[in-house]
Amino acid sequence: MDELLKFFDGDSWTLDYKKETLPTYEHYAHLVNWAVDDSNWPYLPIDLPNADYKSMFKEALQVKDLLVEHRDSESHKGWSSVCVHGEAYNRTRAWNDYEDNQGKTEKDIKYGYCKEVVDRCPIIYNFINSLPFTNLARVRIMYLEAGGYILPHNDRSWNKLNPLNIGLNQPEGCIFRMKDKGDVPFPVNGGACLVDISNVHSVWNNSSTPRVHIIVHGTQLEPFNKMVYDSIKKLCN
Ligand SMILES: [Fe+2]
Repeated sequence: MDELLKFFDGDSWTLDYKKETLPTYEHYAHLVNWAVDDSNWPYLPIDLPNADYKSMFKEALQVKDLLVEHRDSESHKGWSSVCVHGEAYNRTRAWNDYEDNQGKTEKDIKYGYCKEVVDRCPIIYNFINSLPFTNLARVRIMYLEAGGYILPHNDRSWNKLNPLNIGLNQPEGCIFRMKDKGDVPFPVNGGACLVDISNVHSVWNNSSTPRVHIIVHGTQLEPFNKMVYDSIKKLCN
């Protein structure tokens, strides 16, 4: 708890994109590539058209019986998840964390929609299926119970705006903070951000409502890159 209090000490702030200088570019894809790979931006809000966050939030709460405690070997509190798409609904960790996957490469891993979840979450299924992504890997619903927290950690060592984190809600009092980079600006009633999880980050749901997000790992297709471009232009102008 001391670690958490120390991490969340200080005022809330978020990156002001209007102060950021964009490089010159000939095609919008160049700007998107720069943003994702070279900007060192810690997070980037993305407008996802047609996202019915409220309905997806309700659906996600209906499959709580399938939740797997997340990173149970670590000291987080109230953090659990289930795969919408993955190796199996309860294989929520990265493929190479499983003993029976040792010696394989990710190409050997068979990902697919998890029937146990999508049969009960048709709105979530249709939305994820409509996202302009290919090579979908893990797509997980992540729960953080009221009062729960994810202790400060980072998930990789190199910078990249990835994965896509879709917040179905972000209760008042729940903060997703990145060390030295401010608070990730998820709207209370749902919204999405690309997040660079090489930054040390922590989430503290200091509220009386569960926080539910969907994390999407996959390859972005052209229409998604256009959404990223439109979001950058809106934020930076
Ligand atoms: Fe993380």
